[in-house]
Amino acid sequence: MGGGCFIQLTTVAVLFLSLTSSVLSCPPSDRAALLAIKAALNDSYLGIFNTWTGADCCHNWYGVSCDQETRRVADINLRGESEKPISNNAHRTGYMTGYISPAICKLTRLSSVTISDWKGISGEIPRCISDLPFLRILDLVGNKISGTIPPEIGKLHRLTVLNVADNLISGKIPLSITNIKSLMHLDIRNNFISGPIPRSIGRLRMLSRALLSGNRLSGTIPASISRIYRLADLDLSRNQISGSIPKSIGKMAVLTTLSLDLNKISGQIPITLLSSGISDLNLSRNALEGNIPNAFGARSYFTALDLSYNNLKGPIPKSVSSASYIGHLDLSHNHLCGQIPIGSPFDHLEASSFVYNDCLCGKPLKTC
Ligand SMILES: *[C@@H]1O[C@H](CO)[C@@H](O)[C@H](O)[C@H]1NC(C)=O
Ligand SMILES: *[C@@H]1O[C@H](CO)[C@@H](O)[C@H](O)[C@H]1NC(C)=O
Repeated sequence: MGGGCFIQLTTVAVLFLSLTSSVLSCPPSDRAALLAIKAALNDSYLGIFNTWTGADCCHNWYGVSCDQETRRVADINLRGESEKPISNNAHRTGYMTGYISPAICKLTRLSSVTISDWKGISGEIPRCISDLPFLRILDLVGNKISGTIPPEIGKLHRLTVLNVADNLISGKIPLSITNIKSLMHLDIRNNFISGPIPRSIGRLRMLSRALLSGNRLSGTIPASISRIYRLADLDLSRNQISGSIPKSIGKMAVLTTLSLDLNKISGQIPITLLSSGISDLNLSRNALEGNIPNAFGARSYFTALDLSYNNLKGPIPKSVSSASYIGHLDLSHNHLCGQIPIGSPFDHLEASSFVYNDCLCGKPLKTC
C-alpha cells in the first residue's frame, strides 16, 4: 500500500518535472539559431561552445541568457579578453575565428549582443541585425570584422551602445545612424571608415561618448555636434578632417575631452575652447594658425593641453598664468615668439613643452 503510494507520487513528480522543463526550455527555433551561430565560429581554444549542448539553451549555455517570462534568448555575451576559460588553461585569453552567422537575426528578442575581443572573427556584420527590434547593445570590438556598418542600422531605435572599434570595417558612417535617438555610446575607432561625419549628428541627443578616431573620415566637423547636450567625450583624432573648429564646441555643457589631433584642421583656435569645461584638449598635428587666444581664466583647468605641431604664432598669452591648472602642456613645433609667462601653471613645466618655436625665451628655456 505504502509502496503504491510512493510510485504514484514519483510518477506525478516525474510528470511535473518534465512538464516544467519543457515549459522552461528555450524555443527550438532559438536553439537552432544558436547552434547555427556556434557552427560558424571556431572556438577550439577555450572550449566555450562545448557548453552549448542539450535541449535547454537558457540553462548553462555559456554566455547565453533568456528572458525570464518569454524564455526567448535575450543576451549573447561572449568576451574574449575578460572571460575565464571553460577549460583548465586559466590565463589564456580568447581567440576565435569564423564569422557571425546571419542566423543571429532569428533571435528576434535579443537585447544585447557582445562578441568582443576574439581577435580572429572575420566576415561582415549581418545586415539583418538592423531587424532586431529590441537590440540595445551591439558590441563587436576587437575582431577582424570587415564590410560596412549595416546601412539600415538606424532602424534600431532602442540601441544605446554601438561599439565596432578595432576591426577592419570600411565604407561610410550610414546616414541612418542619426535616427538612433537612444544612442549613448558610439565607438567606431580604428577601422577604415571614410567619408564625412553626418551633418545631422546633432540629432543624437543622448550621445555621451563619440569615439571616431583612427579612421579615414574627411570633411569638416559638423557644427550640429555642439547641440549634443550630454556629449562628454569627443574623439575625432587620426582622421583627415579639415576646415575649422566650430566656435560653438567651446560652449558645450559637459564636454571634457576633445581630441582632434592628427587631422587637417585649419583656421584659428576658437576663444571659447580655452575657458570651457574641457580639461583634456589635444589639437596637435593640424594646420591651426593665428595666435593662441588670450582667453584663459579661472575656468581653464587642463590635465592636458596639447597644441604642438601647428602653425601658431605670436606670444604665449599672458592670461595663461590665470588658469586654475595646467598639468601637461605642449606648445612645441609652432612659430611662437616672446617671453614665457611666469606663474603657478608654469612652474613645473619643462623645456620640452616649448621647444621648436621661433623665438620663445625665459624659464625653462634660455633667458630673454
Ligand atoms: C579552428 O582553429 C584552430 C586554431 O585555433 C585550427 O587549428 C583549426 O584548424 C580550426 N578549425 C576549423 C574547422 O577551422
Ligand atoms: C596628442 O596627440 C598626439 C598625436 O596623436 C599624440 O602624439 C600626443 O601624445 C597627444 N597628447 C597628449 C597629451 O595626449
